Amino acid sequence: MNDLIEFDSKRQVFHLHNRNISYIFSVEEGGTLCHLYFGRRVQKYHGELKYPRVDRGFSGNLPGSLDRTFSRDTLPKEYSGAGEMDYHTPATIVRQENGSNSLMLKYKNYKIEDGKPKLEGLPAAYVENEKEAQTLTITLEDELTGLEYDLLYTVYRDVSIITRSVKVRNTGKKTVFLEKVASLQLDFVDRDFDSICLPGAHANERHLERSSVGYGIQKFGSIRGTSSHQMNPFLALADRKTDEFSGDVYGFAFAYSGNHSFEVEKDQLDQTHLVIGINDYNFSWKLDAGSEFQTPEVLMTYSDQGLNKMSQAFHEIIRERIVRSKFKHADRPILVNNWEATYFDFNEEKLKTIVDEAENLGIEMFVLDDGWFGHRNDDNSSLGDWTVYKEKFPSGLGHFADYVHEKGLKFGLWFEPEMISYDSELYRKHPEYLMQVPGRRPSPSRNQYVLDLTRKEVIDDLFGQISKVLKEGSVDYVKWDMNRHLSDVYSASLPKDRQGEVYHRYVLGLYELMERVTSAFPDVLFEGCSGGGGRFDAGFAYYMPQIWTSDNTDAVSRLTIQYGTSLVYPISMTTAHVSAIPNHQTGRKTSFETRGNAAMSAVFGYELDLTKMSQEDKDQVKEQVACYKEIRKLIQYGNFYRLKSPVETNQAAWMFVSDDKRDVCVMTFQVLAFAQPCLTKTKLFGLDPELEYENLETHEIFGGDELMELGFYDPIVHQDYTSKMYRFKGI
Ligand code: DGJ
Repeated sequence: MNDLIEFDSKRQVFHLHNRNISYIFSVEEGGTLCHLYFGRRVQKYHGELKYPRVDRGFSGNLPGSLDRTFSRDTLPKEYSGAGEMDYHTPATIVRQENGSNSLMLKYKNYKIEDGKPKLEGLPAAYVENEKEAQTLTITLEDELTGLEYDLLYTVYRDVSIITRSVKVRNTGKKTVFLEKVASLQLDFVDRDFDSICLPGAHANERHLERSSVGYGIQKFGSIRGTSSHQMNPFLALADRKTDEFSGDVYGFAFAYSGNHSFEVEKDQLDQTHLVIGINDYNFSWKLDAGSEFQTPEVLMTYSDQGLNKMSQAFHEIIRERIVRSKFKHADRPILVNNWEATYFDFNEEKLKTIVDEAENLGIEMFVLDDGWFGHRNDDNSSLGDWTVYKEKFPSGLGHFADYVHEKGLKFGLWFEPEMISYDSELYRKHPEYLMQVPGRRPSPSRNQYVLDLTRKEVIDDLFGQISKVLKEGSVDYVKWDMNRHLSDVYSASLPKDRQGEVYHRYVLGLYELMERVTSAFPDVLFEGCSGGGGRFDAGFAYYMPQIWTSDNTDAVSRLTIQYGTSLVYPISMTTAHVSAIPNHQTGRKTSFETRGNAAMSAVFGYELDLTKMSQEDKDQVKEQVACYKEIRKLIQYGNFYRLKSPVETNQAAWMFVSDDKRDVCVMTFQVLAFAQPCLTKTKLFGLDPELEYENLETHEIFGGDELMELGFYDPIVHQDYTSKMYRFKGI
């Protein structure tokens, strides 16, 4: 039964819906797919919103038609090719044998099926049973070239998410080159939007940026070969008045870890045109006759209750239907990582002292970071040589891992598989594995180079090396790092007319490697990382359920970073550590409590030398560890609401509520103190208004409605960088 997708054959209208949202489009003149509506659920579409036909100067008409009122340039559409008499930025551009890049895509047919097909070699949302979603495939064709475009739409039953991707098939006789092939196009009429994106930098990722959509084309994207610190693959279009709790917002997250682009165009009629997909920079995919190209997937949602509701939909789909690991719902261990404790300056004896202290403090995992392999004492060597550094571990890694295990801790290990150092055995043996342009010296970054993951032999080599270490070291957790972006993008293993495929083939190679490693070691918990949060995207979450959020461990910086991150990504994916003061990235000194509360707002750990702490600090670690163990489920898997934005105010506040609304944890932060502070309140959200709640610290009782409507006053503290955790229990 097609209860989520209906086709009205008389009106030629497709209606995708679940309880909350509707998405409607129709087939119009010339087989043009016309977008009609995306928003709150409507029961049925009767044809009211047919786009008015108006003769517009300089917006041409269909070939062979005398109807001057129909133009593909003005009609809101589902997918546009270059050359179709549409002057918007196209969703697809195809260079053909005769040099033309013109298409005329027309509706051919459709298919509706239960469930959701897998995207071969790509991460994507999945279904656990066929009934929880339905998929509509619309086929468009270009008669001249024989190209067919399958537009795939999957609507989920219980979460307000529609996924979209495109598969291109060359059924013609000639080779063509895909110069651009977007995963999604969406057009809006009569909307005045703000765009919300998540730009950043290394150690300053994903801070929320909101600006009004103006005329022209604005492109948000990455050409760094990864999803990047600089612009996360996410965009929201929000009505001007939309805030965290009310108003319309459309959210789009691209499940892809490479170059991406989000193009927003406000046109001559104030219509908004959105195109999302692989960035067309240096992209050219040779599509021979008979072959296919599948784009990555966009997750899109609509919320009529502000940004928080948008985030809830993203959190749910990523946590429940992108993450596949057996750790999907598991308690994530509290770890201590030795990076900021020792950097490269350690040996087994030193690490053992940290492990001993970790055991005393109740910490659950020790993570051995960079510097354990090859002959690595700094960042100038050994990448590619995943064999233990004997000077640091004379009896082997397994010996040290046994020590960690004997202390009752899990053992985690750092890798940076995609990289190579000139000073490495791998480079000496296989210089051809290093990605570089013939005749040019490749550009170093952190004095390292990128492996050519488009080559199968490189993937095999890495898989072999990593597997050996994971087996021999009885490793429980892996941190998968990547500390530079791509440059010198060229593969000596591909012909010259396929060099435009290298960026994407790199990502496909990476996905293949991660698929092989994670399926061969299902009991290992994997954490993604790219110099912190440089590859924090929904595609990565398909392989690794958690990601190191940022190399910036300063609690105050983390407020904006974690606030922005939470717009899209669930807390179970977001990791945060308490580190030493003065903070290594900012030099700032914050209290242990503030550092703890910021880090306990995510998947929690420490990153400092536990042996160098005062007894007072150690006591606080013990308390934090005990507290986090109590609230861990709520934090990692509860419903998360942002209450106050550190981008807009001097404060930040957010909260976690269990599904039954009985367990509540609130974290509030004040950045600067003032001599004569204005009074501020924190009002809660998402509680049961009928229920009474006990403040677990003061034992005062409040109504749920009271906490949400009246709220409580924030404490006045004459000190910078303060924070407070509140816990409430429904009684
Ligand atoms: C960057 C990571 O984000 C850090 O946590 C650390 O693992 C270093 N790389 C090690 O080189």
